[in-house]
Amino acid sequence: MASAKTCVVGATGAVGQEFLRILEQRDFPISRLRLLASERSAGKRIAFRGKDYTVELLTENSFEKGEIILSSAGGGTSKWFVPHAVKSGAVVVDNTSAFRMEPEVPLVVPEVNPHAIQRHKGIIANPNCSTIQMVVALKPLHDVSRIKRIVVSTYQSVSGKGAKAMEELRLQTKALLDEKPYPPKEFPWQIAFNCLPHIDSFTDNGFTKEELKMVYETQKIMEDDSIAVNATTIRVPVLRSHSESVYIETEKKITAQQAREILSKAPGVIVVDDPANNKYPMPVDSEGRDETFVGRIREDLFFPTGLSLWVVSDNLRKGAALNAVQIAEKLLQLGWS
Ligand SMILES: NC(=O)c1ccc[n+]([C@@H]2O[C@H](COP(=O)([O-])OP(=O)(O)OC[C@H]3O[C@@H](n4cnc5c(N)ncnc54)[C@H](OP(=O)(O)O)[C@@H]3O)[C@@H](O)[C@H]2O)c1
Repeated sequence: MASAKTCVVGATGAVGQEFLRILEQRDFPISRLRLLASERSAGKRIAFRGKDYTVELLTENSFEKGEIILSSAGGGTSKWFVPHAVKSGAVVVDNTSAFRMEPEVPLVVPEVNPHAIQRHKGIIANPNCSTIQMVVALKPLHDVSRIKRIVVSTYQSVSGKGAKAMEELRLQTKALLDEKPYPPKEFPWQIAFNCLPHIDSFTDNGFTKEELKMVYETQKIMEDDSIAVNATTIRVPVLRSHSESVYIETEKKITAQQAREILSKAPGVIVVDDPANNKYPMPVDSEGRDETFVGRIREDLFFPTGLSLWVVSDNLRKGAALNAVQIAEKLLQLGWS
């Protein structure tokens, strides 16, 4: 694989820090690395592969032809800087929701629709974290018997809202245990010892934007607009890794045993499904792991083509930084320079 000038935008954030860990762990071939953030962090020093890098301020003129930009600095920031990066001849793998639903922008999960990368025009969008792990688990089943309907409830960790949200859960939990007040800042309500059925803002139809991302991003990645998705997204007091209760209705019956066999051969999936020994996926076990874990696979008691699954994955890795780095690796394999 050729090496690339690589730039991490949002390098000081929760996803940005994970980018650096993954680039290091996967030995991503970098000819020159730059780390960008806002004026709040410009000048900070960050270590990578044993060398110190200074965080630079993101500007319209930050980019160069041939550079691969791994971006996670918020949707507003991406909307502003990405067109400038593309104009410079760089390619942006963007983790925000800014361009995901633009028809000409590929929305890619390498295990599901890697072919879409080839039609990029300078931007490749990385899907929402809760969508990524769901499609990694469902695409192999969809390939065997088309999924007509998905009903999903998520149990999303606070790291999905960034580094400050993780700090809030830690400090609020401690404060409440010490019987001290800790007013919410990152969340609308107390998150410690609580669950919030509210991720991103509410829309007029009663769903949140996070829920609608799961609907439309799933259809786009699976390249099937007829899949009916109903999502309820919940924030839970877990630091890292999202869990999902997923119910699917398929065209033809897939038994629980067949599903286990299909998923145990699927790329990026590990089946952990041994209820007799209390073995099932849990966020604490998937933290820091690259795979999507699937368990609690069972057939509907009443509906012959219904199947329930429990899907867990590290939202900062497969749900964000790892998926983007895998896209960048594919770009290099396709000869990007
Ligand atoms: N966390 C997840 O699981 C996840 C998953 C998928 C996608 N995403 C998306 O990734 C993005 C970042 O998420 P995060 O969790 O890493 O958030 P975070 O921890 O709050 O980090 C935000 C990063 O963006 C930088 N930034 C903010 N405004 C900027 C600006 N105007 N110019 C340059 N840099 C700026 C920050 O730099 P400073 O240090 O200078 O403030 C920081 O490095 C969000 O759009 C989020 O939706 C997150």
